[in-house]
Amino acid sequence: MGLSDEILRRRTFAIISHPDAGKTTLTEKLLLFGGAIHVAGAVKSNKIKKTATSDWMEIEKQRGISVATSVMGFEYRDFKINILDTPGHQDFAEDTFRTLTAVDSVIIVIDAAKGVETQTRKLMQVCRMRKTPVMVFINKMDREGKDPFDLLDEVEQELQIGVRPLSWPINMGYSFKGVYNIYKEDLNLYTPNKQTVSETIAFKDLNSKELEDYIGAKDAAKLREDLDLVAGVYPDFDREEYLKGEMAPVFFGSALNTFGVKELLDCFVEIAPSPRPVQAQERLVDPQEEAFSGFVFKIHANMDPNHRSCIAFVKVCSGKFERNVNYKHVRQGKMMKFSAPTAFMAQKKETVDEAYAGDIVGLPDTGNFKIGDSLTAGEDIHFKGLPSFSPEMFKYIENADPMKQKQLQKGIDQLMDEGVAQLFVNQFNGRKIIGTVGQLQFEVIQYRLLHEYSAQCRWEPIRLYKACWVESDDPKELDNFKKRKYQYMARDKEGRDVFLADSAYVLQMAQEDFKAIRFHFSSEF
Ligand code: G4P
Repeated sequence: MGLSDEILRRRTFAIISHPDAGKTTLTEKLLLFGGAIHVAGAVKSNKIKKTATSDWMEIEKQRGISVATSVMGFEYRDFKINILDTPGHQDFAEDTFRTLTAVDSVIIVIDAAKGVETQTRKLMQVCRMRKTPVMVFINKMDREGKDPFDLLDEVEQELQIGVRPLSWPINMGYSFKGVYNIYKEDLNLYTPNKQTVSETIAFKDLNSKELEDYIGAKDAAKLREDLDLVAGVYPDFDREEYLKGEMAPVFFGSALNTFGVKELLDCFVEIAPSPRPVQAQERLVDPQEEAFSGFVFKIHANMDPNHRSCIAFVKVCSGKFERNVNYKHVRQGKMMKFSAPTAFMAQKKETVDEAYAGDIVGLPDTGNFKIGDSLTAGEDIHFKGLPSFSPEMFKYIENADPMKQKQLQKGIDQLMDEGVAQLFVNQFNGRKIIGTVGQLQFEVIQYRLLHEYSAQCRWEPIRLYKACWVESDDPKELDNFKKRKYQYMARDKEGRDVFLADSAYVLQMAQEDFKAIRFHFSSEF
């Protein structure tokens, strides 16, 4: 198979959801269809159980497991599928944001009883920013949940995206009878079965009397009525709109019962995009270009505490990556070759000789890579990394062991490069502030500084509401702003100006008083 065909058959995506909606279960069922695993229960849930937030062993275990499940590749029909796993715990949302830079599309799982939840809303914001095509799987139809039409309205409003159901449930909970696959025009009757796939019945004419035989007169009437309404209310499915990220096809089912999953997967491989062009600072990079290029979107550090080794995860953006070939580490301006790149098939990690645009390769590293680094066949391309978002929590980080100042500095630098949290340096007093999205990250940082760098840190409180990146077309006005707010000005690790607002009110006042200044809640603008 030629380069072009190899790339076109790739589907690289992430499943995202609020914890407990069924992401792990759905992932596992997709692997089951791909023949990558043979029994349900084989995929370890990579979530840190919410009850054990301070259980360090659990976190270490989690880090171990999640390398194995970071990328799950498998073959299905003629397609090569790469599922990128995202951490379940919301304190690691930043990790998930970054993973979203490496995918070409997304499947969102929603619990039919709970509807759209906070985490889903946040993740969808990132998809919207990047115009990532999304499909929605409404899960747990075997339980009583919200009315399907209400759920669709909720998805449309809360996630600010048009929806188009492509399958439709026949009841739910105890009386759940199955789904009608609008996309393929067939009927799939429900039999709870956690392992195997149920047969579908081709069913083009819904007015046929046979429908009554399968699901009874009452449900047949209701299904016809519902589908009439669907056809009346929602525009026809348009793949272009889906690819532009403006409309989400919706499927209903039950991941636990392997039901409605095949419909989702079959439609997914047909409509989801193959690797999309990636924007670099210099130009748009097309996946079909011969020359290899890629970027680091995730770093897994110090897996083995005895060796300072990391794995840098590289998304191949164009061409073909090959083992033992020299590539350019653009930021460092040096050539490097890799003798043991790994690829991920199902849950196995193995050395590979080549990988194509769309694939993820894991490169063993000893501290050369940072999140966002570009690797190319020679061209100086800088891929745009994911923006940093204003953290939700802030603390001053202080050295608790004066003898270990250097170690602390090194540890902080490396953990920030790895993307564990964000560092801001207050320009007024020089103090370092760490910003995170959750309390757990502070604990992880303290623990890792001690265990990996022998450095001790202490946290001190700081009352902050948001960190905003500021810019202006008027350099004088920016200067004026920075002078007026000098106690609250900081720099992020790239040296950009950041305003630390200690309350929503202060921020609002600043926005009103300084009309020429633009305040951004993410670092990409
Ligand atoms: P997550 O990765 O999104 O956090 O969710 P996960 O797949 O772990 O699923 C969360 C819980 O929901 C699990 O139950 C899982 O079995 C259940 N679940 C997933 N899909 C369905 C479904 O279609 N129907 C029903 N009724 N339940 C579903 P748990 O009790 O938390 O875990 P476990 O002990 O069953 O593994």
